[in-house]
Amino acid sequence: MDWDAFFKLHDELPREGPGTDGDVLWAAELGGVPAHARILDGGSGPGGDIAALLQVAPEGRVLAVEMHQGFADAVAKRFEDDKRVTARVGSMMREHGPFDLIWSAGAVYFVGVAEALNTWRKALAPGGVVAFSEPCLFRPAPDDAVETLFEGILPDDEAGIRAKVEAAGYEVLGTRRISDAGWEAYYQPQEARIEMLRQGADDALNAVLDEAEAEIAVWRKHREDFGYLLCVTRPL
Ligand SMILES: C[S@@+](CC[C@H](N)C(=O)[O-])C[C@H]1O[C@@H](n2cnc3c(N)ncnc32)[C@H](O)[C@@H]1O
Repeated sequence: MDWDAFFKLHDELPREGPGTDGDVLWAAELGGVPAHARILDGGSGPGGDIAALLQVAPEGRVLAVEMHQGFADAVAKRFEDDKRVTARVGSMMREHGPFDLIWSAGAVYFVGVAEALNTWRKALAPGGVVAFSEPCLFRPAPDDAVETLFEGILPDDEAGIRAKVEAAGYEVLGTRRISDAGWEAYYQPQEARIEMLRQGADDALNAVLDEAEAEIAVWRKHREDFGYLLCVTRPL
């Protein structure tokens, strides 16, 4: 992977994974997140969920922690006039909290459910919740194209994800699938950027754009087979 080419495509996008404001609101209500909540957005990307997190907690604050400098910079710029938001480059696993909500959309799979939940237990305030979205298999034998997309290592199904949450000593307060609208909110801006970048693209950039287009095509065709599951969880 040519990372310069990868970030040329990804750095200007409003979000880096599927989801909607409605997902944030649903999770926060289920988790009983208070208006003054201290929130960690772990693996925030460019901060596509932060406006909704602030809607949930207008008297609270959001710490966005992101491994990629360009995304952390995008969050800082996007919320430069809002003192409730802090952007930090680094690992979401190193924050001590305390947090009333740890929100992590599409980032837990980088470290694994067990590792994330075990680490975050210590960072949660009493009664605090972890809400995360995770790749999920919706049908047991997906099309070959799905298997290829995941390079042969298919994601867990919902039962598998629940089992990992429970093994980590958490209860599942609720789950729901990320909607098609959530995926389009991620893919449509990406498609517009792919079209714009095609002109004058070199081989490395064209390869990244081809791969992104192929991923989008697989999701559009096989979205009944796989997607993301949003899980709201609390330590027992
Ligand atoms: C699929 S993107 C989702 C971004 C964002 N949550 C969204 O939905 O738009 C996952 C993000 O997690 C970040 N990430 C992965 N592991 C991380 C870690 N240990 N600490 C902080 N950020 C991490 C990646 O850099 C990437 O931006």
